[in-house]
Amino acid sequence: MNPTIELLKSHRSIRKFTDQPVDQATVETLVQAGQAAATSSFIQACTVIQVSPGERRNKLAEMAGNQAYVAEAPVFLVFCADMKRHQLACGMHDAEMKSGFTEQFLTASLDCGLFAQNVIVAAESLGLGGVYIGGLRNNIEAVADLLELPELVYPVFGMCLGHPDQNPEIKPRLPLDVVLKQDRYDDSADAERIAEYDKDVKEYYRTRTGGTKDMTWSEQISGMLIKEARPHMLPFLNGKGFLKR
Ligand SMILES: Cc1cc2nc3c(=O)[nH]c(=O)nc-3n(C[C@H](O)[C@H](O)[C@H](O)COP(=O)(O)O)c2cc1C
Repeated sequence: MNPTIELLKSHRSIRKFTDQPVDQATVETLVQAGQAAATSSFIQACTVIQVSPGERRNKLAEMAGNQAYVAEAPVFLVFCADMKRHQLACGMHDAEMKSGFTEQFLTASLDCGLFAQNVIVAAESLGLGGVYIGGLRNNIEAVADLLELPELVYPVFGMCLGHPDQNPEIKPRLPLDVVLKQDRYDDSADAERIAEYDKDVKEYYRTRTGGTKDMTWSEQISGMLIKEARPHMLPFLNGKGFLKR
């Protein structure tokens, strides 16, 4: 192993922060680290909105399903998939951009994921911690209005960052052979391997929550996936000019 891999493997989400501020130069360094990520066809389709503590941030915390750490974190970033500046680039050459393609939605959203992961890893390398906030998509229309997002821009997720005031255990991941296949898709052993993994996750929750959460991975997933998954997303994205063809 080397320090980079050690750092990656020591990731855990941080949801409780000390009062110690994160200076703006550090935030800018983190965002530059994000910009350095690979980007589909060089589109650079991620825009980050840093939301300072205060009324707007409090509203975001509420919209994200009352996640208090959204209001409390020293730094809160919203990662937006942004195809608007491409319209501008096309206009600079009297070209009319063809928008609304699923492919563009996918590449812009992927750009945000790669960008953001660089940001959180860079933050962790400095001893900071953070957590992604997909909860923003609970009320995505209101979030987009609050941040004054135009057409061809949508908030993919948020991210809290700051100095950790907790030291949670690393959450166990699926067994390697469930996620790494050789030459073809063979899931014949997966059910058995997942049943074994379930025991690890149950133990993780038992120790982390002092016994209050007693759940396996497959229980958690099945509880979630029997429900509809934010069905407002498609009409919202259509309204912003995404996923039309
Ligand atoms: C796109 C994305 C959205 C997430 N949204 C939330 C969220 O809204 N609230 C939260 O507390 N955690 C959120 N998480 C954190 C996950 O719950 C967490 O990464 C996962 O349980 C694994 O735990 P770990 O990060 O500590 O290893 C999100 C993670 C990702 C990647």
